[in-house]
Amino acid sequence: MIPGFRITPWEVSGDTVDYNSLISLFELDVVTTEVRNLFQEVFGEEHYLISRGIFYAHRFLRLALLDLKYNRAKVYIFTGRGASGPMHIGHLIPVNLAKWMQERLGLHFFFQISDDEKFVLRPDLGLKQVRKYALGNALDFVALGFDEKRTHIIWDTQVASWLYPLTLKLAKRISLSELKNLVKIDDSWNVGVAFYSVVQSMPALMMEMELNEPYRALVPMAVDQDPLMRVSVLIADKMGLRKPGMIHSKFLLGLKGEPKMGTRYPESAIFLTDPPEVVREKIEGSACGPPRRCPALSYLRAFDPDDESFFSIWEVCFNDPEEGCKLAKKRAIEVLVPFIEEHQMRRKEMRDKVDEYLMKEPPIPLDKSLDPRD
Ligand code: TYM
Repeated sequence: MIPGFRITPWEVSGDTVDYNSLISLFELDVVTTEVRNLFQEVFGEEHYLISRGIFYAHRFLRLALLDLKYNRAKVYIFTGRGASGPMHIGHLIPVNLAKWMQERLGLHFFFQISDDEKFVLRPDLGLKQVRKYALGNALDFVALGFDEKRTHIIWDTQVASWLYPLTLKLAKRISLSELKNLVKIDDSWNVGVAFYSVVQSMPALMMEMELNEPYRALVPMAVDQDPLMRVSVLIADKMGLRKPGMIHSKFLLGLKGEPKMGTRYPESAIFLTDPPEVVREKIEGSACGPPRRCPALSYLRAFDPDDESFFSIWEVCFNDPEEGCKLAKKRAIEVLVPFIEEHQMRRKEMRDKVDEYLMKEPPIPLDKSLDPRD
C-alpha cells in the first residue's frame, strides 16, 4: 500500500497518483531510452503517447518487441473495455496506441468488451444494462476506424460458448489464494469477480494455447489493469506459454483535476457521446492547475499530435499556470470538439457495420478433443 492513494483494477482514489511508486509496488519496468529505441526500430517511428511519457512503464515489452524484430513469434494486440457506461476520452489512450501499432505493422487486434466484469462488479448494474453498454462501446470502438479483416471484438457474454471452455483451461491452473494475492480481492467479494479475473487472461493466451504455435500478445492499457493482466503471466508460466508484453499508461485527468477520468464519475468525464457543445462547456469549465494537475493540458498531451503546439503551451503553463490554462483550454477545444463531431458522424455511419467486427466463432478451431464426436 502507498499512503495517500489506492489503485486497483476497479478503483483509483486519492488526490494524485504517484506513478513512480506504482512501478515498485507493481514491480514494473520503466520505459527506458533503450526500450524506446527498440520500439522505434520495430515500428519505424515513435508515437507521441510514448515520447511524452504517457505510456511510461511495461512488463515484458522487450520480449514482444524482439519477437517482432526477429520474427520469433506472431505478435497480436490485445486490449479491452469494461462495459460500465458510455466510453470517455480516457479509454481511447490504449486504443489509439493499439490502432497505430496495427496500422504500422498490420497486426491482428483483439478488443475484449467485458460486460460480464461490470455486471459482477457493480451491484447497481443489470445484465441487460451492461449488454446495452457493450453494444454502445462496440459502436464507439468501430467508429474509430479499423482494418476490418484484422480487428476482432470479443464481447464476453456474446461469445460464451467458446470463451467459457477456453477460460476453464486457465482457471484450473490458478488457486484462489494466488488470485486473491494478485488482484487484491478478499473473502467478501463475490465469486463472479474472482472468475472474471481469469476471463481477462484468456485472449492474452488463447492463440498459443490452442494452436500450439509461437504467438505473443502485446497489451497496451492504463496502469490500473496491471494486477488483472498479471494473472495471465502467472498462468502462462505454469502452462509454458509466452507471457504477454504489456505497456502501461498514466491516466487522463478528470475535469475537476481528479487523478483519473472515470465513467463512474460522469462529472469528471468527456464522453464520446456528449454533444459537441457540451464538450466545449466541459473544457471551458474544467479546473486549472500547475502542469501536472491541469486537465486541459493532460488532454492535449494525449490528443494533440502537434509537438510544437503542445510543448509551447506546456511551457506557458509551467511559467504562468493561469495564462497556460487559458491557452490549454482553447487548444483542447480546437482539438477535441471537431474530433467528437466527426466521431459521432462515423458512429452513425457504422451502426450497421458493427456486427462484422463482433467475433462469433473462436479465432482458431477449438481443441478437437473438446468435440465428443471425434
Ligand atoms: P475500463 O473499461 O475501466 O477501461 C478501459 C481501458 O482504459 C483505461 N482507462 C484509462 N486510461 C487513461 N485515462 C483514464 N482516465 C482511463 N480510464 C480507464 C483502462 O486502464 C483500460 O485499459 N477490465 C478492463 C477491461 C478489459 C481490459 C482487457 C483492459 C477487458 N480486457 C484487456 C486491458 C486489457 C476495464 O474495466 O477497463
